[in-house]
Amino acid sequence: YFTAPALTSAQPSTYRDYESRDIFDWDNLGFKLIQTDYMFMTKSSQNGNFEKGKLNPYGNIELSPSAGVLNYGQGLIEGTKAYRVDDGRIFLFRPQESGIRMQIGAKRMCMPSPSIQQFVDAVKLTTIANKRWIPPAGKGSLYIRPLLIGNGPILGIAPAPEYTFIVYACPVGNYLRNGTQPLTLYVEEEHHRASQGGAGGVKAITNYAPVIKAIQEAKEKGYSDVLYLDSVNKKYIEEVSAANIFLVKGKNISTPIASGTILEGVTRKSIIDIAHDLGYKVEERLIEADELFSADEVFCTGTALGVAPVGSITYKNKRINYKVSSDLISEQLNSRLVAIQKGIIEDKRGWIIEI
Ligand code: COI
Repeated sequence: YFTAPALTSAQPSTYRDYESRDIFDWDNLGFKLIQTDYMFMTKSSQNGNFEKGKLNPYGNIELSPSAGVLNYGQGLIEGTKAYRVDDGRIFLFRPQESGIRMQIGAKRMCMPSPSIQQFVDAVKLTTIANKRWIPPAGKGSLYIRPLLIGNGPILGIAPAPEYTFIVYACPVGNYLRNGTQPLTLYVEEEHHRASQGGAGGVKAITNYAPVIKAIQEAKEKGYSDVLYLDSVNKKYIEEVSAANIFLVKGKNISTPIASGTILEGVTRKSIIDIAHDLGYKVEERLIEADELFSADEVFCTGTALGVAPVGSITYKNKRINYKVSSDLISEQLNSRLVAIQKGIIEDKRGWIIEI
């Protein structure tokens, strides 16, 4: 990965107005790790509150070999973005939603969690400290990764005695290798992402290692990712490894209902609201995989991915091709979302935080 040029003073870059475009080739950003300057860090005991915390230079952290997170996976991730807009201002998009989701996830994983205010403040601080890594307008964004881990040592299966909340950041462009090309998916019939009663509905780190195999196999076969089915009936579609899915039929939009096995994406929520605003009917419901054959349009949403049209899905050895044109409903929804994010149209719901 790329390592940032050393800073010349110990001061966060907040206080020195680096022009981001002076230091990096912003035209070739993908979704790969680029070390930035600072990360935020704070700790808490099992029942306690998180301390105020501070920025540290980005770097390794020390962990006991018996840390709860290493042995039993007691950890959560979040993902949110900061970006520059044309007039140079820097915006965050709905970081509170990520803070709320971390609190819900922390309950599921028996962890204490930072307050929403602490979470948002840490995201802001990390963004400002890494300001020189926010790509110029239109070139990408700063992906912010809050991380909550049970770092305290433990032998039996129980909550760790200590927790660390970290926020680091990385400039990103397109999430997928094929850039803005429509996604090619296949329905994964062997592996499942989540089961009822499990932790699929929260952003537990344990949701991700098991899907690496499915993603690897999909990439080897030339697909962008896979679409998972429910693990009980193997009949209803759930989500893609790192994104939610929507189907369009006429003027009706449907997305799998988030009833415990589906991650409630912030982009998913935002697109549902925008679709209502634009007069579409949106249903959150069980969707049989067979409905993929008759959908007019399919698209995926995620913080990392954005809103991405699906060009084809292979299911039961049949490749279903979807229309890909500039008059897609997903394109209309995406344009509206991006216009709100850029401050071009009014943000009536308070989604944007300017920093
Ligand atoms: C996101 O979209 O923010 C994700 O968390 C997906 C992935 C990079 C884990």
